[in-house]
Amino acid sequence: MEQFYTPRPEFLVVGLLLFSVSVHAQISIPSKQDGFWYKDRAAGIDSILIEAFLDPVCPDSRDAWPPLKQAFEFYGSRVSLVVYPFALPYHDNAFLCSRALHIVNKFNSSSPYKLLESFFGSQEEFYNQKTFNLSRASVVAYVAKFAANAVGNTLYDEIKAGFSDSTTDQATRYSFKYGCLKGVYGTPFFFVNGYPLPDAGSALSYKDWRGFIDPLVAEAEASRVEPSHYLL
Ligand SMILES: *[C@@H]1O[C@H](CO)[C@@H](O)[C@H](O)[C@H]1NC(C)=O
Ligand SMILES: *[C@@H]1O[C@H](CO)[C@@H](O)[C@H](O)[C@H]1NC(C)=O
Repeated sequence: MEQFYTPRPEFLVVGLLLFSVSVHAQISIPSKQDGFWYKDRAAGIDSILIEAFLDPVCPDSRDAWPPLKQAFEFYGSRVSLVVYPFALPYHDNAFLCSRALHIVNKFNSSSPYKLLESFFGSQEEFYNQKTFNLSRASVVAYVAKFAANAVGNTLYDEIKAGFSDSTTDQATRYSFKYGCLKGVYGTPFFFVNGYPLPDAGSALSYKDWRGFIDPLVAEAEASRVEPSHYLL
């Protein structure tokens, strides 16, 4: 039988110190919540919250978007949706395109969605193979031009400059890190009221969304009418 090893107390103290130092060194907290609220409808205490981690150059994220939008429209004010760009490391231009979403967000909160839909519409242009022989600088210039076309051509210079602004780099890192903290490992990846949905990494259909959200809406309605029983 093996004997249990009891560490000497001074080792424990050193271990604890090292642990607390490393935790303090790693956590850097953004000054406000991350994410793009769809239609500027932030979550209220009674709303059902959908969080979506999407990679602008991921085909499954692209396919997931129309049914999610359709579900959002169906449920109206009962649902709030927040999207976080999540750049998968094996998509060469994912971080760049995600950064473009943060850049255009500075001009108008609806712009990230316009641009996201444009990326989804012309996604092949940003695939690894397509940009393999291009320099980083020319891909950045291309993405800036593409983004300006999507959200308003007058903004080209500002968008281009956004790629040299360290705050947009930081914002894109926060989105990625937030996903990592929540255990995101592929896209699309969804959470409802903070809980992960099954089938991560594949697109959910409108029917799937109804299957997840309908029972929650029904439950919420039931709990809302209940107090009146006590009043009778
Ligand atoms: C943002 O863009 C939307 C849609 O194009 C527009 O309706 C809205 O007025 C813009 N908001 C601002 C602050 O420019
Ligand atoms: C990249 O350039 C090389 C040399 O010109 C060419 O042989 C290759 O096919 C190109 N690759 C792609 C993916 O365009």
